[in-house]
Amino acid sequence: MKRTIIITGGAGFIGSHVVRLFVNKYPEYHIINVDKLTYAGNLANLKDVEDKPNYTFVHADICDFDTIYALMQRVHVDGIIHLAAESHVDRSIKDPFTFAKTNVMGTLSLLQAAKLYWESLPEGFEGKRFYHISTDEVYGALQMTHPEGIQPPFTTKASSGEHHLAYGEQFFTEDLKYQPHSPYSAAKASSDHFVRAYHDTYGLPTIVTNCSNNYGPYQFPEKLIPLFINNIRHRKPLPVYGKGENVRDWLYVEDHARAIDVIFHRGTIAETYNIGGFNEWKNIDIIRVLIATTDRLLGRPEGADDDLITYVTDRAGHDLRYAIDSSKLQRELGWEPSLQFEEGIEKTVRWYLDNQDWMDNVTSGDYMKYYEDMYKNR
Ligand code: NAD
Ligand code: DAU
Repeated sequence: MKRTIIITGGAGFIGSHVVRLFVNKYPEYHIINVDKLTYAGNLANLKDVEDKPNYTFVHADICDFDTIYALMQRVHVDGIIHLAAESHVDRSIKDPFTFAKTNVMGTLSLLQAAKLYWESLPEGFEGKRFYHISTDEVYGALQMTHPEGIQPPFTTKASSGEHHLAYGEQFFTEDLKYQPHSPYSAAKASSDHFVRAYHDTYGLPTIVTNCSNNYGPYQFPEKLIPLFINNIRHRKPLPVYGKGENVRDWLYVEDHARAIDVIFHRGTIAETYNIGGFNEWKNIDIIRVLIATTDRLLGRPEGADDDLITYVTDRAGHDLRYAIDSSKLQRELGWEPSLQFEEGIEKTVRWYLDNQDWMDNVTSGDYMKYYEDMYKNR
């Protein structure tokens, strides 16, 4: 079936994996990547697909309603997979307005444009889909009732390696009350509410998913995993917030992209699906894995870089524990992570070490100059 799908934020970390998967897997679809190219957007993330005939890049801001509405009419959009957002918690603490603008107003502008365009068609909303990608952070923080760890209720491939403990009995389930703590998660929560309101009020065919922490290639090195791999490589201090006891639930980014594919095609309208691999880690444990793996792959002696660990002032409002219950998605749509966590981390560290040019381009800011030149020469 022919389809035109707009993917927003496709030049970012997760978006680039979703664009790559859809462009390669569905040659009959036209995939349109709409991205503003903020500091987090990098077209180098999509070098391998940029010349494919079923791929188009459109440089646009999702907050610009007129441009977005005109684009939807011009390309006859059938489906929207919405990832564009400001995504970094630390930035949201310093600059909450930008997060409200992009994550809330940007989402609202997309919703309204899709509603107006699809309502104008003879078939209306039939066969259309507005899929909003959200985060587990909207649920707030879970208690750490078992700091020593207990068996999780399910085991998936992601959690079937050596480390497969949960740090409490409670998990984020789809029916849990929203309790966001950071400006980032508050803005994402608000956008989720708008998406559901557009379904409940106008009948827009929406789906929302809430995913746990992603890791893998092309992640901007302000986030824990790429930042620390790069710092270990350059023997720079590793700034561990607080005591390093906070727990995050990690999923390999390509497994998130696969879940998005399954849910976009087979998910039920108006439903919410949580996405995660039952793969909880205390930050300090993951940091030790990163040091050991990076040192081994660089041929450094074991323990050579342990002293890079530097405890620093905690993040304001730092959520203690995230843990997703993705059993609904596994049960209803048969999705499950494809990678064991140990394999995923090894692949990830290797990718960053093998792609130092990508990292240098990002950390030097050269990738932004590339855009300046590109638009200057038009
Ligand atoms: P990212 O910061 O790497 O990428 C965001 C992308 O959105 C960039 O390409 C940026 O240029 C683009 N963008 C930002 N503002 C825009 C605007 N106004 N108009 C158009 N494009 C704009 O983010 P990510 O980590 O890939 O996250 C993608 C989505 O997934 C976000 O909605 C985020 O909340 C959600 N999410 C992320 C994670 C994670 O672990 N990274 C986990 C769960 C959910
Ligand atoms: O849970 C999903 C969320 O995961 C996404 O919605 C966000 O977009 C994404 O950024 C991520 O949020 P986190 O705040 O969990 O990710 P981050 O990589 O910033 O931090 C992971 C943990 O590591 C967190 O407990 C804070 C800690 N940390 C982070 C950095 C950058 C440190 O101790 N030191 C650091 O320098």
